Amino acid sequence: MRKKIIAGNWKMNKTLSEGIALASEVANMANDEVSSDVNLILCTPAIHLAPVSSVIKDVANVSAAAQNISEHESGAYTGDISADMVLSTGAKYVILGHSERREYHNETNAQLADRVKLALDKGLTPIFCCGESLETRESGEHVNFVNNQLKESLHHLSAEEMSKVVIAYEPIWAIGTGVTASSDQAQEMHKSIRTALADQFGAEVADGISILYGGSMKPANAQELLTQPDVDGGLIGGASLKARDFIDIAKSY
Ligand code: 13P
Repeated sequence: MRKKIIAGNWKMNKTLSEGIALASEVANMANDEVSSDVNLILCTPAIHLAPVSSVIKDVANVSAAAQNISEHESGAYTGDISADMVLSTGAKYVILGHSERREYHNETNAQLADRVKLALDKGLTPIFCCGESLETRESGEHVNFVNNQLKESLHHLSAEEMSKVVIAYEPIWAIGTGVTASSDQAQEMHKSIRTALADQFGAEVADGISILYGGSMKPANAQELLTQPDVDGGLIGGASLKARDFIDIAKSY
């Protein structure tokens, strides 16, 4: 059985007090309303991680995640955050390779390969993001493009390591635009990702990997996406900033 995961990527939103309030609202609603087999993950700004981890600590199916880590263990890397620092807050997951990081910070597939490996070595679960631009989709190259992202950032892992990774497919043209991928488009890409993972790591590993969809997911479209056979969860941006919407998405399976 693949894990059902609804992850909220807060991006660069919420002051510390606002973030703590949101996390505690989510924790309370999760307790009352969300099935225990749905895992909720709050991907908060780094400075929120420790207090948010403390607010959610008694709710078994709510965890915290960082939005990035350095590929270096420690040292003179001003402004960066290490895997050990993230772990020391109580967070268990880290988003790696979000398209906004790739675009605005020039993160490369090779750099992400190092970060994925370091996260796994340290015991943090990577949520590895992939996805194509509108131009790439319109050229018909989207499947090849995403397969290449997987190849260059994940193929150095062992099957056992890969079985611990969560994938998020986020078509760039659907992020923050209000335009979501259709359920057919999402299913097609998720199936192709699973097939590519099976070719490299074996069918058993590929069958166990949770593949999340991200891009304008909201309560109104979540059910249609989450009921696709290869869509195991969601990585939610805008709609994760309101506890009610985030929880309603988690109730859409
Ligand atoms: P939106 O849900 O705001 O489109 O953002 C998706 C996303 O980038 C999550 O990581």
